[in-house]
Amino acid sequence: MNADIVAASQELKEGGVVVLPTETVYGLAANALDREAVRKIFAIKGRPLNNPLILHVLDSSWLERYSHVKKYSIRAKKITGAFWPGPITIILPKKAVIPDIVTASFSTVAIRSPDHPIFRAVLLASNLPLAAPSANPFGYVSPTCIGQVKATFGDRVKVMLDGGECAVGLESTILDITGTVPKILRPGAITADAISKVLEEDVVDYDVQIVSENPNAPGQLKQHYCTNTRLVLFEHGNRDLSQYFAGKTAIVFVQRPKNFDGIAKNLQLPAEAILWFSDDGDLNAVAKNLFSTLQRLDSAPYDTILCERPPREEIGIAIDDRLSRAAAKFEQ
Ligand code: TXA
Ligand code: MG
Repeated sequence: MNADIVAASQELKEGGVVVLPTETVYGLAANALDREAVRKIFAIKGRPLNNPLILHVLDSSWLERYSHVKKYSIRAKKITGAFWPGPITIILPKKAVIPDIVTASFSTVAIRSPDHPIFRAVLLASNLPLAAPSANPFGYVSPTCIGQVKATFGDRVKVMLDGGECAVGLESTILDITGTVPKILRPGAITADAISKVLEEDVVDYDVQIVSENPNAPGQLKQHYCTNTRLVLFEHGNRDLSQYFAGKTAIVFVQRPKNFDGIAKNLQLPAEAILWFSDDGDLNAVAKNLFSTLQRLDSAPYDTILCERPPREEIGIAIDDRLSRAAAKFEQ
Protein backbone atom coordinates (compact mmCIF):
# COMPACT_ATOMS: atom_id res chain seq x y z
CA MET A 1 0.00 0.00 0.00
CA ASN A 2 1.09 3.56 -0.71
CA ALA A 3 3.16 4.97 2.21
CA ASP A 4 1.04 8.13 2.44
CA ILE A 5 -2.13 6.09 2.88
CA VAL A 6 -0.48 4.00 5.59
CA ALA A 7 0.78 7.12 7.38
CA ALA A 8 -2.64 8.79 7.28
CA SER A 9 -4.40 5.65 8.42
CA GLN A 10 -1.92 5.18 11.28
CA GLU A 11 -2.25 8.79 12.39
CA LEU A 12 -6.06 8.46 12.43
CA LYS A 13 -5.93 5.26 14.46
CA GLU A 14 -3.69 7.02 16.99
CA GLY A 15 -6.21 9.84 17.46
CA GLY A 16 -4.57 12.39 15.16
CA VAL A 17 -6.02 14.79 12.61
CA VAL A 18 -5.05 14.55 8.93
CA VAL A 19 -5.79 16.63 5.84
CA LEU A 20 -7.35 14.66 2.99
CA PRO A 21 -8.57 15.65 -0.47
CA THR A 22 -12.17 15.06 -1.51
CA GLU A 23 -13.85 15.81 -4.83
CA THR A 24 -15.56 18.86 -3.24
CA VAL A 25 -13.00 20.59 -1.00
CA TYR A 26 -10.12 19.49 1.24
CA GLY A 27 -11.17 18.04 4.60
CA LEU A 28 -9.66 18.00 8.10
CA ALA A 29 -10.32 14.41 9.16
CA ALA A 30 -10.32 12.45 12.40
CA ASN A 31 -11.69 9.14 13.66
CA ALA A 32 -15.36 9.96 14.32
CA LEU A 33 -15.55 7.30 17.04
CA ASP A 34 -12.80 9.00 19.06
CA ARG A 35 -14.15 11.99 21.02
CA GLU A 36 -10.76 13.47 21.76
CA ALA A 37 -9.64 13.20 18.13
CA VAL A 38 -12.80 15.00 17.00
CA ARG A 39 -12.25 17.69 19.63
CA LYS A 40 -8.92 18.46 17.94
CA ILE A 41 -10.71 19.25 14.67
CA PHE A 42 -12.85 21.89 16.41
CA ALA A 43 -9.76 23.35 18.11
CA ILE A 44 -7.67 23.53 14.92
CA LYS A 45 -10.48 25.14 12.91
CA GLY A 46 -11.67 27.42 15.71
CA ARG A 47 -15.13 26.04 15.04
CA PRO A 48 -17.93 26.42 17.61
CA LEU A 49 -18.94 23.11 19.17
CA ASN A 50 -22.60 23.67 18.22
CA ASN A 51 -21.82 23.18 14.51
CA PRO A 52 -21.97 19.42 13.71
CA LEU A 53 -19.57 17.58 11.40
CA ILE A 54 -20.14 15.31 8.41
CA LEU A 55 -19.32 11.62 8.78
CA HIS A 56 -17.44 10.19 5.77
CA VAL A 57 -17.97 6.51 4.94
CA LEU A 58 -16.74 4.15 2.25
CA ASP A 59 -20.14 3.20 0.87
CA SER A 60 -23.80 2.69 1.70
CA SER A 61 -23.07 -0.59 3.48
CA TRP A 62 -21.63 1.52 6.34
CA LEU A 63 -24.91 3.42 6.88
CA GLU A 64 -26.33 0.71 9.18
CA ARG A 65 -23.29 0.93 11.44
CA TYR A 66 -23.77 4.58 12.29
CA SER A 67 -27.40 5.49 11.60
CA HIS A 68 -30.95 4.20 11.98
CA VAL A 69 -31.43 4.04 8.24
CA LYS A 70 -34.17 1.39 8.08
CA LYS A 71 -37.17 3.69 8.19
CA TYR A 72 -35.62 5.77 5.38
CA SER A 73 -34.04 2.95 3.43
CA ILE A 74 -36.03 3.49 0.22
CA ARG A 75 -34.90 7.10 -0.06
CA ALA A 76 -31.39 6.27 1.13
CA LYS A 77 -31.03 3.51 -1.46
CA LYS A 78 -32.18 5.74 -4.28
CA ILE A 79 -29.83 8.58 -3.31
CA THR A 80 -26.77 6.46 -2.62
CA GLY A 81 -27.41 4.31 -5.69
CA ALA A 82 -27.59 7.33 -7.96
CA PHE A 83 -25.01 9.67 -6.44
CA TRP A 84 -22.53 7.82 -4.17
CA PRO A 85 -19.65 8.10 -4.04
CA GLY A 86 -20.20 11.77 -4.72
CA PRO A 87 -21.01 15.26 -3.51
CA ILE A 88 -24.22 14.63 -1.56
CA THR A 89 -24.61 14.26 2.21
CA ILE A 90 -27.71 12.73 3.75
CA ILE A 91 -29.13 13.36 7.21
CA LEU A 92 -30.28 10.31 9.18
CA PRO A 93 -31.07 9.53 12.85
CA LYS A 94 -27.77 8.70 14.51
CA LYS A 95 -26.82 5.57 16.39
CA ALA A 96 -25.36 5.87 19.90
CA VAL A 97 -21.94 4.72 18.69
CA ILE A 98 -21.39 8.19 17.21
CA PRO A 99 -20.20 10.51 19.99
CA ASP A 100 -22.30 13.63 20.64
CA ILE A 101 -19.39 15.91 19.80
CA VAL A 102 -19.61 14.86 16.13
CA THR A 103 -23.29 15.80 15.83
CA ALA A 104 -23.26 18.72 18.30
CA SER A 105 -25.68 16.62 20.37
CA PHE A 106 -28.27 16.55 17.58
CA SER A 107 -30.12 13.26 17.25
CA THR A 108 -29.25 13.13 13.54
CA VAL A 109 -25.97 12.58 11.73
CA ALA A 110 -24.85 13.90 8.34
CA ILE A 111 -23.20 11.17 6.22
CA ARG A 112 -21.49 11.11 2.86
CA SER A 113 -19.23 8.92 0.76
CA PRO A 114 -16.53 11.05 -0.88
CA ASP A 115 -15.44 10.42 -4.45
CA HIS A 116 -11.68 10.81 -4.26
CA PRO A 117 -9.31 7.84 -4.58
CA ILE A 118 -7.02 9.05 -1.77
CA PHE A 119 -9.83 9.63 0.74
CA ARG A 120 -11.37 6.29 -0.23
CA ALA A 121 -8.07 4.46 0.18
CA VAL A 122 -7.72 5.90 3.69
CA LEU A 123 -11.29 4.85 4.58
CA LEU A 124 -10.55 1.37 3.33
CA ALA A 125 -7.18 1.09 5.10
CA SER A 126 -8.36 2.47 8.44
CA ASN A 127 -11.86 0.96 8.34
CA LEU A 128 -12.93 4.01 10.37
CA PRO A 129 -15.74 6.52 9.78
CA LEU A 130 -14.06 9.90 9.42
CA ALA A 131 -15.50 13.16 10.69
CA ALA A 132 -14.25 15.89 8.37
CA PRO A 133 -15.20 19.52 7.93
CA SER A 134 -13.66 21.64 5.21
CA ALA A 135 -9.98 22.35 5.99
CA ASN A 136 -10.28 26.11 6.46
CA PRO A 137 -10.32 28.29 9.57
CA PHE A 138 -13.97 28.64 10.68
CA GLY A 139 -15.85 31.10 8.46
CA TYR A 140 -13.10 31.47 5.86
CA VAL A 141 -13.12 30.37 2.21
CA SER A 142 -12.84 26.55 1.77
CA PRO A 143 -9.61 25.13 0.30
CA THR A 144 -9.58 23.41 -3.09
CA CYS A 145 -5.84 22.70 -3.30
CA ILE A 146 -3.26 21.55 -0.78
CA GLY A 147 -1.27 24.81 -0.95
CA GLN A 148 -4.12 26.71 0.67
CA VAL A 149 -4.31 24.20 3.51
CA LYS A 150 -0.56 24.15 4.10
CA ALA A 151 -0.51 27.93 4.32
CA THR A 152 -3.07 27.89 7.13
CA PHE A 153 -2.55 24.62 9.04
CA GLY A 154 0.98 23.60 7.94
CA ASP A 155 2.38 23.88 11.46
CA ARG A 156 -0.56 22.19 13.19
CA VAL A 157 -1.24 19.04 11.15
CA LYS A 158 1.47 16.46 10.54
CA VAL A 159 -0.07 14.40 7.74
CA MET A 160 -1.48 16.25 4.72
CA LEU A 161 -2.14 14.34 1.51
CA ASP A 162 -2.07 16.14 -1.83
CA GLY A 163 -4.83 14.99 -4.14
CA GLY A 164 -4.55 17.78 -6.70
CA GLU A 165 -7.20 20.36 -7.42
CA CYS A 166 -10.70 19.41 -6.20
CA ALA A 167 -12.88 18.50 -9.17
CA VAL A 168 -16.12 20.06 -7.90
CA GLY A 169 -14.80 22.94 -5.78
CA LEU A 170 -17.96 23.47 -3.68
CA GLU A 171 -19.03 21.58 -0.56
CA SER A 172 -21.54 18.75 -0.92
CA THR A 173 -25.29 19.21 -1.19
CA ILE A 174 -26.87 18.39 2.20
CA LEU A 175 -30.22 16.60 2.02
CA ASP A 176 -32.42 15.81 5.00
CA ILE A 177 -34.37 12.65 4.15
CA THR A 178 -35.97 12.21 7.59
CA GLY A 179 -38.93 14.57 7.11
CA THR A 180 -42.28 14.05 5.41
CA VAL A 181 -40.74 15.79 2.42
CA PRO A 182 -36.98 15.59 1.73
CA LYS A 183 -35.33 18.96 2.14
CA ILE A 184 -32.10 20.56 0.93
CA LEU A 185 -30.19 22.16 3.81
CA ARG A 186 -27.19 23.27 1.73
CA PRO A 187 -27.15 23.58 -2.07
CA GLY A 188 -24.31 21.92 -3.98
CA ALA A 189 -23.41 20.33 -7.29
CA ILE A 190 -26.32 17.90 -7.04
CA THR A 191 -29.45 20.02 -7.48
CA ALA A 192 -32.99 19.73 -6.12
CA ASP A 193 -34.23 18.80 -9.61
CA ALA A 194 -31.74 15.96 -9.98
CA ILE A 195 -32.62 14.66 -6.49
CA SER A 196 -36.35 14.94 -7.10
CA LYS A 197 -36.05 12.87 -10.29
CA VAL A 198 -34.16 10.13 -8.49
CA LEU A 199 -36.48 10.07 -5.47
CA GLU A 200 -39.58 10.36 -7.64
CA GLU A 201 -41.04 12.82 -5.15
CA ASP A 202 -40.99 16.55 -4.45
CA VAL A 203 -37.99 18.01 -2.66
CA VAL A 204 -37.99 21.26 -0.70
CA ASP A 205 -35.25 23.37 -2.20
CA TYR A 206 -32.83 25.33 -0.11
CA ASP A 207 -34.07 28.69 1.15
CA VAL A 208 -31.60 30.84 3.01
CA GLN A 209 -34.43 32.81 4.67
CA ILE A 210 -36.00 29.82 6.35
CA VAL A 211 -32.70 28.36 7.47
CA SER A 212 -31.24 31.53 8.94
CA GLU A 213 -34.47 32.31 10.78
CA ASN A 214 -34.54 28.91 12.44
CA PRO A 215 -32.06 28.86 15.32
CA ASN A 216 -32.56 25.08 15.70
CA ALA A 217 -31.16 24.34 12.25
CA PRO A 218 -27.45 23.67 12.63
CA GLY A 219 -24.76 25.29 10.64
CA GLN A 220 -26.11 27.25 7.76
CA LEU A 221 -24.91 30.65 8.88
CA LYS A 222 -25.90 33.73 6.95
CA GLN A 223 -22.26 34.85 7.04
CA HIS A 224 -19.73 32.29 5.98
CA TYR A 225 -16.93 31.54 3.52
CA CYS A 226 -15.70 35.14 3.99
CA THR A 227 -12.65 36.76 2.49
CA ASN A 228 -10.83 39.35 4.59
CA THR A 229 -10.93 41.82 1.70
CA ARG A 230 -14.27 43.58 1.15
CA LEU A 231 -16.35 41.54 -1.29
CA VAL A 232 -19.15 43.17 -3.27
CA LEU A 233 -21.45 41.31 -5.66
CA PHE A 234 -23.06 42.67 -8.81
CA GLU A 235 -25.89 41.21 -10.84
CA HIS A 236 -25.14 38.90 -13.75
CA GLY A 237 -24.59 40.90 -16.92
CA ASN A 238 -24.27 44.32 -15.22
CA ARG A 239 -21.37 46.23 -16.80
CA ASP A 240 -21.96 49.61 -15.15
CA LEU A 241 -19.40 48.86 -12.48
CA SER A 242 -17.30 51.90 -11.61
CA GLN A 243 -20.03 52.95 -9.14
CA TYR A 244 -18.90 50.06 -6.91
CA PHE A 245 -15.19 50.87 -6.93
CA ALA A 246 -13.67 51.56 -3.52
CA GLY A 247 -9.90 51.89 -3.19
CA LYS A 248 -7.81 49.44 -5.19
CA THR A 249 -10.42 47.26 -6.89
CA ALA A 250 -10.34 43.89 -8.68
CA ILE A 251 -13.23 42.47 -10.71
CA VAL A 252 -14.14 38.83 -11.28
CA PHE A 253 -16.56 38.03 -14.09
CA VAL A 254 -18.32 34.70 -14.44
CA GLN A 255 -17.01 34.36 -17.99
CA ARG A 256 -14.12 35.92 -19.92
CA PRO A 257 -15.48 39.24 -21.26
CA LYS A 258 -15.72 39.12 -25.05
CA ASN A 259 -14.48 42.70 -25.50
CA PHE A 260 -11.81 42.47 -22.82
CA ASP A 261 -9.72 45.44 -24.05
CA GLY A 262 -12.74 47.69 -24.28
CA ILE A 263 -13.89 46.75 -20.79
CA ALA A 264 -10.43 47.24 -19.26
CA LYS A 265 -10.18 50.66 -20.91
CA ASN A 266 -13.66 51.64 -19.85
CA LEU A 267 -13.11 50.67 -16.25
CA GLN A 268 -9.59 52.10 -16.21
CA LEU A 269 -8.26 49.02 -14.47
CA PRO A 270 -4.96 47.24 -15.16
CA ALA A 271 -5.43 43.91 -16.98
CA GLU A 272 -4.35 41.87 -13.94
CA ALA A 273 -7.21 43.33 -11.90
CA ILE A 274 -9.79 41.83 -14.25
CA LEU A 275 -10.37 38.09 -13.80
CA TRP A 276 -12.98 35.49 -14.67
CA PHE A 277 -13.98 32.16 -13.14
CA SER A 278 -14.41 30.39 -16.48
CA ASP A 279 -13.36 31.04 -20.08
CA ASP A 280 -16.70 30.10 -21.56
CA GLY A 281 -19.12 30.56 -18.64
CA ASP A 282 -19.44 26.82 -17.89
CA LEU A 283 -20.89 26.84 -14.37
CA ASN A 284 -19.04 23.69 -13.28
CA ALA A 285 -15.77 25.46 -14.09
CA VAL A 286 -16.98 28.51 -12.18
CA ALA A 287 -17.62 26.31 -9.12
CA LYS A 288 -14.24 24.65 -9.45
CA ASN A 289 -12.38 27.98 -9.57
CA LEU A 290 -14.57 29.95 -7.17
CA PHE A 291 -12.78 29.54 -3.83
CA SER A 292 -9.23 29.48 -5.23
CA THR A 293 -9.82 32.72 -7.17
CA LEU A 294 -11.31 34.45 -4.13
CA GLN A 295 -8.45 33.28 -1.95
CA ARG A 296 -5.84 34.42 -4.47
CA LEU A 297 -7.38 37.90 -4.66
CA ASP A 298 -7.73 37.99 -0.88
CA SER A 299 -4.00 37.61 -0.44
CA ALA A 300 -3.25 40.31 -3.06
CA PRO A 301 -3.26 43.98 -2.03
CA TYR A 302 -6.81 44.93 -3.03
CA ASP A 303 -9.30 46.96 -1.01
CA THR A 304 -12.36 45.66 -2.86
CA ILE A 305 -13.18 42.50 -4.82
CA LEU A 306 -16.14 43.01 -7.16
CA CYS A 307 -17.66 39.74 -8.17
CA GLU A 308 -20.36 38.94 -10.73
CA ARG A 309 -23.21 36.71 -9.56
CA PRO A 310 -23.81 33.59 -11.67
CA PRO A 311 -27.15 32.78 -13.28
CA ARG A 312 -29.23 30.97 -10.64
CA GLU A 313 -29.53 27.68 -12.48
CA GLU A 314 -28.00 24.22 -11.91
CA ILE A 315 -24.83 24.53 -9.80
CA GLY A 316 -25.17 28.34 -10.13
CA ILE A 317 -27.63 28.17 -7.20
CA ALA A 318 -24.91 26.78 -4.93
CA ILE A 319 -22.28 29.19 -6.27
CA ASP A 320 -24.58 32.13 -5.62
CA ASP A 321 -25.31 30.80 -2.13
CA ARG A 322 -21.59 30.75 -1.24
CA LEU A 323 -20.99 34.20 -2.75
CA SER A 324 -23.98 35.75 -0.99
CA ARG A 325 -22.89 34.41 2.35
CA ALA A 326 -19.30 35.56 1.77
CA ALA A 327 -20.48 39.08 0.89
CA ALA A 328 -22.95 39.25 3.82
CA LYS A 329 -20.15 40.24 6.20
CA PHE A 330 -19.59 43.47 4.26
CA GLU A 331 -23.21 44.49 3.91
CA GLN A 332 -23.76 46.04 7.35
O1 TXA B 1 -18.22 18.54 0.73
C1 TXA B 1 -18.30 18.52 1.96
O2 TXA B 1 -19.36 18.26 2.54
C2 TXA B 1 -17.03 18.85 2.74
C3 TXA B 1 -15.99 17.75 2.51
C4 TXA B 1 -14.76 17.92 3.37
O3 TXA B 1 -16.59 16.50 2.68
N1 TXA B 1 -17.32 18.98 4.15
C5 TXA B 1 -17.96 20.06 4.67
O4 TXA B 1 -18.04 20.05 6.04
O5 TXA B 1 -18.40 20.97 4.00
P1 TXA B 1 -18.36 21.36 6.89
O6 TXA B 1 -18.14 20.95 8.29
O7 TXA B 1 -17.57 22.49 6.38
O8 TXA B 1 -19.90 21.58 6.67
C6 TXA B 1 -20.80 20.64 7.22
C7 TXA B 1 -22.19 21.22 7.27
C8 TXA B 1 -22.33 22.26 8.35
O9 TXA B 1 -23.01 23.38 7.83
C9 TXA B 1 -23.18 21.55 9.39
O10 TXA B 1 -23.99 22.42 10.11
C10 TXA B 1 -23.99 20.59 8.54
O11 TXA B 1 -23.07 20.16 7.58
N2 TXA B 1 -24.45 19.45 9.33
C11 TXA B 1 -23.71 18.51 9.94
N3 TXA B 1 -24.46 17.64 10.64
C12 TXA B 1 -25.74 18.04 10.47
C13 TXA B 1 -26.99 17.55 10.94
N4 TXA B 1 -27.09 16.49 11.74
N5 TXA B 1 -28.11 18.21 10.56
C14 TXA B 1 -28.02 19.29 9.73
N6 TXA B 1 -26.85 19.81 9.26
C15 TXA B 1 -25.73 19.21 9.63
MG1 MG C 1 -17.01 24.40 5.88
